Amino acid sequence: MMETLIDKCPRVETERLVLRRWEERDLDGVIRMNGDPRVMEFFRSLNTPDEARQFLDIMMRQEEKHGFCFPVVEDKKTGAFLGFCGLNVPAYSGPLPCEPCVEIGWRLIPETWGKGIAVEAARFWLGFGFETLQLNEIVAITVVQNHKSRRVMEKLGMTHDPAEDFDFLNVSVDHPLCRHVLYRFSADRFREQTNG
Ligand SMILES: CC(C)(COP(=O)(O)OP(=O)(O)OC[C@H]1O[C@@H](n2cnc3c(N)ncnc32)[C@H](O)[C@@H]1OP(=O)(O)O)[C@@H](O)C(=O)NCCC(=O)NCCS
Repeated sequence: MMETLIDKCPRVETERLVLRRWEERDLDGVIRMNGDPRVMEFFRSLNTPDEARQFLDIMMRQEEKHGFCFPVVEDKKTGAFLGFCGLNVPAYSGPLPCEPCVEIGWRLIPETWGKGIAVEAARFWLGFGFETLQLNEIVAITVVQNHKSRRVMEKLGMTHDPAEDFDFLNVSVDHPLCRHVLYRFSADRFREQTNG
């Protein structure tokens, strides 16, 4: 069957990056990234080293299950761990209004921010999602006030309808990180964008 023949998370090189599956050697990078308050500004807590270990285990398990899970971003020149960016099948503790779906998401170490790294990696995975995996739609979510992340979504050409904003079910409604935005990107829109 085609399904088993496709590597859903191949190792690829873009202009500045290597995009690949999770490996054990990523643990130190994950501990630093998920323990950094700048990176975790829009999450409810920082990861302890033990939680970062669990995070890496979850990434690997989900990758095994679905073929991909927010692939790793590595610096092509130095091999340094920069974070993650790419496709994921959501498995959050609360349901999303768009499930079942494939989302795209990103988290990078602050030293890389503002250089278009997220957009470079995301562009590859959007193309891969639509052209190779033949997805009909890819979504992205973030808290309303995460403007850096929303800017990446907008730069990629994703669209946002305020009528689809939603409260994350496992966060109390008066919590500042409760309200989320949903951005969508359809295969048709991707084709229009690609064909100019
Ligand atoms: C979101 C994140 C991945 C963006 O990575 P990045 O490589 O810096 O993204 P890019 O350089 O491709 O683009 C960032 C854009 O956001 C813009 N931006 C930065 N800070 C901003 C702000 N406070 N408000 C609005 N836009 C902002 C930048 O100007 C840039 O847009 P431009 O190229 O038009 O100038 C990175 O900031 C990050 O890892 N943040 C912490 C984790 C996180 O919040 N992840 C998303 C969870 S949904």
